[in-house]
Amino acid sequence: MRSVSKTYTTSKKGVVRAIDSVSFDVKAGEFVSIVGHSGCGKTTLLRIITGLTEPTTGSVTISGKAVALPMRGVGHVYQKPALMPWRSAIENVLLPIELLHGDKESARKKASALLASVGLKGFESLYPRELSVGMQHRVSLARALIHDPQILVMDEPFGSLDELTREEMATELLKITESLNKTVFFVTHSVSEAVMLGDRVLVLSPRPSKLVSDVAINVPRPRTEKVRTQSSFIAYCEEIRSRLGSNLEGQRPVQ
Ligand SMILES: Nc1ncnc2c1ncn2[C@@H]1O[C@H](COP(=O)(O)OP(=O)(O)OP(=O)(O)O)[C@@H](O)[C@H]1O
Ligand SMILES: [Mg+2]
Repeated sequence: MRSVSKTYTTSKKGVVRAIDSVSFDVKAGEFVSIVGHSGCGKTTLLRIITGLTEPTTGSVTISGKAVALPMRGVGHVYQKPALMPWRSAIENVLLPIELLHGDKESARKKASALLASVGLKGFESLYPRELSVGMQHRVSLARALIHDPQILVMDEPFGSLDELTREEMATELLKITESLNKTVFFVTHSVSEAVMLGDRVLVLSPRPSKLVSDVAINVPRPRTEKVRTQSSFIAYCEEIRSRLGSNLEGQRPVQ
């Protein structure tokens, strides 16, 4: 990403400067956590990376090519699982295959294996209403992985979960991403989640977002839940919180 800026113009709010000259490089297979105050431009940044929003100035390239739609090698996970209520868990995972007219029957085995890898073996034929919210999130992660994307973009995927489920999901995600070796962009409001999962944490300033810090997390992998108690982990969290600043009034809490 090179000198990317984004300005929105709306009739009601006029000009809103969301992103201000952000540049960074990401290696294939890196897990990049992104933290910043609410409304600073994190979702905008993810949309620019995946070609859904055009930057006002600056450029984004992936493997030397300018980002352009449609981008097939990207899996998306959002804050809400957004499952189709009338489709079973496995049918939801298979939806992207169906939409792109792929061979659904041959993908069924893979969908089953993905559901098993997110801890949902035996739940394939249940409908979303029969699953807990945490389970629905797991289905949404499996759905994002069905195309075996090179890049996984996650926008506050666990934001609506209670703390315990959230920690469980973070541990699951750690296992999955460490085994899959994908490039991941992971937006979160939780500093500890960002550090636990990330090879790096990009810290954005309040709007217009500048990249205020790019912290390499030198905690060896594979990581486990125990990482949270290590002194280096706590020091990283403190460093990132101080970079974020304490001006949190009116914002969602940064944990
Ligand atoms: N399509 C749009 N049109 C106009 N303004 C927009 C649009 N999308 C985002 N914005 C504005 O850009 C700014 C950044 O929004 P964005 O959704 O990227 O923030 P965010 O960091 O993801 O926030 P949150 O943490 O609350 O999800 C906000 O002021 C928002 O109002
Ligand atoms: Mg957002």
